[in-house]
Amino acid sequence: MNWNAVAGRFAPPARLAVIGDPIAHSRSPQMHNPALRACGIDAQYVRVQVPQGRVAEAFRQFARCGFLGVNITIPHKFEALDAVDVLDPLARQLGAVNTLAIRDGRLHGYNSDGPGFLRSVKEAFGVEVKDLRVLILGAGGGAGRAVAVQSALVGCRSITLANRTLDKALAVMREIREIGNVPLVGVVEMDDAHLAYQMSGCDLVVNATSLGMKSADTKLLPADSIEARHLVFDMVYRADGETPLLADARLAGAKTVDGLTLLLHQGAISFEHWFDRPAPLEVMREGLRNA
Ligand SMILES: NC(=O)c1ccc[n+]([C@@H]2O[C@H](COP(=O)([O-])OP(=O)(O)OC[C@H]3O[C@@H](n4cnc5c(N)ncnc54)[C@H](OP(=O)(O)O)[C@@H]3O)[C@@H](O)[C@H]2O)c1
Repeated sequence: MNWNAVAGRFAPPARLAVIGDPIAHSRSPQMHNPALRACGIDAQYVRVQVPQGRVAEAFRQFARCGFLGVNITIPHKFEALDAVDVLDPLARQLGAVNTLAIRDGRLHGYNSDGPGFLRSVKEAFGVEVKDLRVLILGAGGGAGRAVAVQSALVGCRSITLANRTLDKALAVMREIREIGNVPLVGVVEMDDAHLAYQMSGCDLVVNATSLGMKSADTKLLPADSIEARHLVFDMVYRADGETPLLADARLAGAKTVDGLTLLLHQGAISFEHWFDRPAPLEVMREGLRNA
């Protein structure tokens, strides 16, 4: 493909992108393009489908075409770790790169999902993760591991890791114990009885599984284990309504937030890496609302 010809078709010129496979569903352009316009930056943010195994090659092409930065989504966040020249220590610790900044031809890799999670909790619930007892469903996946490690780095009160494949949660538990900031770290099977028991001792529950896009998806928690005092964070979001977990949480009177808030805050942090200035958060929020 002649990348220069493709990039040249855009006005303003394509200088930022999100890569994934598939990628057509991504709402990131609707969030970033209004932000670029609001800040008077002559650049456009586009979606680019990149197959697995081609991330390093794509990064070099972006650099050659004068791109400033890239967001990386499923399934490329791990491959991107090895495709950058300079890896931010937080991205190394969280085990994934979702933001690339290209400076003087050098590829700098960051993770904005972890810090975006902290900002989302603060904005949605008015509390800091460090003050909470956290239960993570899907703690063995990429997003769940990032949330778990980020929560450990800020020294939250306790972490319980639940995952369908228990070995993956056990591996995350060992990493968190090595960080050494959290007094209580445990692993639990993902069945109703164990999860209901764990709910009684947690403040914040995070869905980091890939379940919840469809109303018919298996329920993650027994509905009667959710109390009004719980803070319920679903990393998944749906264009056509609430996830089943958030519907149950709302009925229980709990406070809720969905993955769109995380998308917003991780996007704002990426913008800060690219332009070294605060992101126009409300413009980005409005862009996502209209998407
Ligand atoms: N809002 C945002 O900005 C944002 C950012 C990042 C991720 N996310 C969302 O977070 C979710 C997870 O992403 P990821 O990158 O972590 O994916 P991933 O690495 O593929 O992990 C998927 C997780 O879901 C679990 N899972 C899958 N099917 C399951 C089932 N039937 N029952 C129980 N658990 C099941 C997996 O368990 P096993 O380990 O047993 O397979 C694993 O823990 C996705 O929906 C993604 O869209 C949202």
